[in-house]
Amino acid sequence: MTSNERKKQLILHAEEVFSKVKEYQDMGLICKDGDFVPSVHYPPITRYPDTNADECLKDFEYPADGFMDVYVHIPFCIRHCLFCHYPGKTGECRDEKEKYVSYLIREIDLYLKRFNIEKLKPRSILLGGGTPTYLPPQLFDHLLEELGKRMDMSCCKQYNVDHDPNSIIGEEGEQRLKIMKKHGITRLTIGIQSLDDDVLKVMNRSHNAEQAEEAVRKAVEYGFDVNIEFIYGHPGETIDNWIEVMDRAVRLPVGEIQIYRLKVQAYGDRQGKINTYEGGRQGTAIPDFKTTMMMKQIAIDILNENGYHETLRRVYAKDKRVFSHYAYNQCCNMYDQVGFGLTGFSSYHDRFDINSQYFDEYYSKIDSGELPITRGCRRSREEQIRQAIILPLKNRSVIKSDFLRKTGVNFDDVFQKKTETLKKYGLIEDNGKVVKLTEIGGFLADEVCEQYNSNMYKPFPRENFADGPLNPYLDNELSE
Ligand SMILES: C[S@@+](CC[C@H](N)C(=O)[O-])C[C@H]1O[C@@H](n2cnc3c(N)ncnc32)[C@H](O)[C@@H]1O
Ligand code: SF4
Repeated sequence: MTSNERKKQLILHAEEVFSKVKEYQDMGLICKDGDFVPSVHYPPITRYPDTNADECLKDFEYPADGFMDVYVHIPFCIRHCLFCHYPGKTGECRDEKEKYVSYLIREIDLYLKRFNIEKLKPRSILLGGGTPTYLPPQLFDHLLEELGKRMDMSCCKQYNVDHDPNSIIGEEGEQRLKIMKKHGITRLTIGIQSLDDDVLKVMNRSHNAEQAEEAVRKAVEYGFDVNIEFIYGHPGETIDNWIEVMDRAVRLPVGEIQIYRLKVQAYGDRQGKINTYEGGRQGTAIPDFKTTMMMKQIAIDILNENGYHETLRRVYAKDKRVFSHYAYNQCCNMYDQVGFGLTGFSSYHDRFDINSQYFDEYYSKIDSGELPITRGCRRSREEQIRQAIILPLKNRSVIKSDFLRKTGVNFDDVFQKKTETLKKYGLIEDNGKVVKLTEIGGFLADEVCEQYNSNMYKPFPRENFADGPLNPYLDNELSE
């Protein structure tokens, strides 16, 4: 097949899939303008009330087996990318970085004291951001050293650090790779976003395509498991250049490729500049809903063609045993996970909390010996049940025996009408023991799973959805 014929075939298939998407939109599944909100936590992270550590952690029972997955947040970046909504500081700011790391360590010590333990016992660790590797090498080494002293690593299956490519190339990059090796880091997630230099410029990224590829080669050379991330539906992206980017991505020697749909409106704390982006004037408007959905299908086809298959939602790997343990433990098993740092969040078996997003508040709480938690809540029984469907279903599947163990109720006794409707319209399948999304259901995973949100937590108002059989506001009672 010539490359033109292949391109035509990819486009034709993506158009076919989009026509199905359109049918679901007309039935009320997808909101009328095609916008989406990722289902990442339940209740959604933006909806937690204000609280403090004493109120939020009252009567908290530390898990009997002593395990907690650990998240550590580093809110520093070289510069702000156009699409990014994460709060953080940009530029060198060495003094601030040193101060932050010292407070981070103090915060961990406050937790150890509160939980009355000497060390945390992680199943997995994720150092995310921001860009953890944007810390100067010596400070990065110090942070990893101090973290190491506070962790019992005997059962830690994966130690992951998020990066942007620039931080692991060149002389300093090489030092950081050595430091990570020394501290037992196993997996690197590299945010590449695109391999098209013009698109990278629109994104305001600090690297070009060649540097991104060099970062991947370096990480692989050092023996890390490598996961790379891309955004589709971003200004500057077209079907043509997206096909080239994905073709180039699958030629890289990585185990995992992750694709994110551009989120224009923030669902977290800080609104990135993307929602006021006026690049349309320069011919780089935000691609429309149809083009964005077609890009998604094209990426899936190219990934599948090259032996990459979905292991967790929107993550594609050549080996099905390769995936983020941190994400899997939190979203599929709902294990206890504790988070440190600015905006660091903890997702426990029965509650959720999130730290301050303001540096000053974060520091002053720690100065007064208080954990820097500012929002959170204990989930009600109904919220526990909804969460135990939404997160596993979105990411993999609901195993009915696990669901019963976690919630004390039978899956078949709750949301019967809703589940029947989703089955009838080909979005979920149930083999008696396991409930999972069908192929098209997986393609529309956020929308299908949000069907199980309570009406007060639907991502958009009722009138934003067509008044069809899949309008998410229908049949939403728990029903037992
Ligand atoms: C927490 S960010 C950290 C990435 C890292 N600092 C970097 O820039 O490479 C993790 C990933 O989320 C994705 N992401 C961030 N903002 C997004 C947005 N507005 N829409 C879609 N994906 C986004 C990007 O793919 C990014 O690599
Ligand atoms: S995408 Fe990464 S590097 Fe860019 S602003 Fe966000 S966290 Fe920072």
